Amino acid sequence: MRHMGDREGEGSLSGCRSGNLRTDKADLRRNFRRRAATYEQYAQVQRDMAGELLRLAETEIKKAARILEVGCGTGTLTRELRRLNPRAWILAVDLDPEILRRARVALAGDRGIAWLAMDAESLSQGGFDLIIANSVFQWFSRPHATLARYHRMLRPGECLAFSAMGPATFRELGQAWRRAAARPEAGPPVPVAATFAAGPDWVRMLNQAGFQDVRLARELRVVSYPSVLEFLKAVQGTGAVSPRPRALTPRLLRRLLAVYQDLFGNGVVPATYELLYLMARK
Ligand SMILES: C[S@@+](CC[C@H](N)C(=O)[O-])C[C@H]1O[C@@H](n2cnc3c(N)ncnc32)[C@H](O)[C@@H]1O
Repeated sequence: MRHMGDREGEGSLSGCRSGNLRTDKADLRRNFRRRAATYEQYAQVQRDMAGELLRLAETEIKKAARILEVGCGTGTLTRELRRLNPRAWILAVDLDPEILRRARVALAGDRGIAWLAMDAESLSQGGFDLIIANSVFQWFSRPHATLARYHRMLRPGECLAFSAMGPATFRELGQAWRRAAARPEAGPPVPVAATFAAGPDWVRMLNQAGFQDVRLARELRVVSYPSVLEFLKAVQGTGAVSPRPRALTPRLLRRLLAVYQDLFGNGVVPATYELLYLMARK
């Protein structure tokens, strides 16, 4: 394993969280569809992730003839793939047809892009020179099997490149949540991000799927928000929330806001994002 960069020590494996994650795809799709209209307004971190992923994969993007983009969303990364490589044939896949419609409008008239609404964990079409995804793989329910599938779908020597959020994402929220919950023994809701796979989990899964030359970069980014409510609004706006949120009573919400502010607020309110970038070759 080679590290492309590591701004803080690696987190512990804590078992393979992703392997246990059971995300219902219908809930996930509904969740992102509800946020389709606000996604671009709030998705500054995801845009930055796309920028870094493009930087890391630029050479691969420019020389690819056939690109698969997984979870294209409203087309943030798709637009840039096209800018970097005007000739490639791109298959852009997303769970939700309404989200895809928005991406299609944004890239109106581009006949070199095929749009497909389906679960990208069930794709089987092969012969790709590059499989790429920005901030999507953390939502996979069968990451082991899906990585093995993507390995089969790539041409020999070609590349898989993706960014994903890691389990330290929103760690302040988790801490505040645990402190605010009236009955911690009842199992307070934790941010879904705490269940995301960590960098070393992805490296291990990629190796097990048969990939070589696996490289990982990790960044812990702290974003400042004017208030806890503004932070929660931004998280809601991008859909980076549990597809099946547990009910939060108004009393618990008020307590959560107060505890978060007390623990971390200092003029502004910080929220950590753990950003992972992985590249691997068949
Ligand atoms: C955080 S958004 C990222 C969108 C886009 N990649 C970007 O950079 O802005 C995650 C997207 O992945 C899609 N997605 C999640 N799981 C998926 C799956 N199994 N198959 C296809 N799309 C999926 C969601 O519908 C959503 O549009």
